[in-house]
Amino acid sequence: MNHRSKLAQRLGEGLAAQQQAGLLRTRQVQPQSLLDFAGNDYLGLASSQVLNTLAAEALTEVACGSGASPLVSGYCRTHQALEAKLCQRTGHEAALLFCSGFSANQALMKTLFSDADTVLADKLVHASIIDGLKDSGARLRRFLHNDAASAAAMAQKQSVTALITESVFSMDGDCAPLSQLRQLCDEQNAWLIVDDAHGFAIPRDDGGACDSQFADVQLVTFGKALGCQGAALLGSQLFVDYMVANCRHYIYSTALSPLAAQLALSALSLVDTPIRQQPLLDNIRLFRALCQQAGLSLLPSDTPIQPLLVGDNDTVMALAAALRQRGILVGAIRPPTVPVGSARLRITLSARHSRQDIEYLVSVLGELLPPQSQVEPQI
Ligand SMILES: Cc1ncc(COP(=O)(O)O)c(C=O)c1O
Repeated sequence: MNHRSKLAQRLGEGLAAQQQAGLLRTRQVQPQSLLDFAGNDYLGLASSQVLNTLAAEALTEVACGSGASPLVSGYCRTHQALEAKLCQRTGHEAALLFCSGFSANQALMKTLFSDADTVLADKLVHASIIDGLKDSGARLRRFLHNDAASAAAMAQKQSVTALITESVFSMDGDCAPLSQLRQLCDEQNAWLIVDDAHGFAIPRDDGGACDSQFADVQLVTFGKALGCQGAALLGSQLFVDYMVANCRHYIYSTALSPLAAQLALSALSLVDTPIRQQPLLDNIRLFRALCQQAGLSLLPSDTPIQPLLVGDNDTVMALAAALRQRGILVGAIRPPTVPVGSARLRITLSARHSRQDIEYLVSVLGELLPPQSQVEPQI
């Protein structure tokens, strides 16, 4: 490789600038010994014995690879069965599968919209939605986070094709006002598209799961609560027929592995049992109660995503490093993933955490973040 080329020079300068701004991202293999409060394995399925056993069984029944794109010969009975199960669960008429939620969102936006459309999206929707909308050429207007009145005010000023939100927000853990947004979309004759990546199969105290009652199109991912890999878009038969005929990501990409589809199907049969759901609900309540006792101010969330606002980029990195030294893995989230000045520890809870795990986490957080050092959440 020519390290003196113009491109190599630009890459080097880019990395140096990110380093300077405290925004350089790197990766590392995380030791198994760390207590993981960073992942999205909310129901503890990702590395569970039960899912491993089901994977071993699946290997005797389905192929590892799909061998082709879905419209050629890659679409198989296992895909069909998974789509049917997802439809049964959510009330949608039809579904189509993707290898990741990121590609599903990008594909959705790029296929549905063009420069003839105006689309409203919550200020905090996922990067994959924004990237897809940019590719589509649609006019994008961002309404204030979880603020249906802000969306309504924008919809008064222009004809809107669709409104996009997440059900449970990935970095804040709070929930969209789906009923109000649904009503607004009905008034505007617009579609409501809901990214349900972090809400799907998660127990909620208020029972407010997303389904076809709210969403015209719903994205679900298999890499969070289901502990697997892949994603699906769900909607009407018309929607899915249109996607199958026009979505370039779907038409020109190898279909999801039948093994991954079978595994997601197996995971779906496990998620609703009380032994998976109740420990997660208990852990969320325990964590919030202990934080309150310790004077730690959390953002208002009753989901497994529990952010602790820190503000400054360097401070959040230092805190994550200090937690790591104490054997705890927590996500340090900085801009551009979250707005400037709102760097945070993204703490995620799972059904597999024990009471002791959570008590230990809160005691270390209490030591590292005495009340006077904390940033008050702006609600
Ligand atoms: C809200 C949201 N949507 C979509 C995705 C992408 O899903 P996947 O990880 O399956 O690519 C993520 C990933 O974290 C997410 O947080």
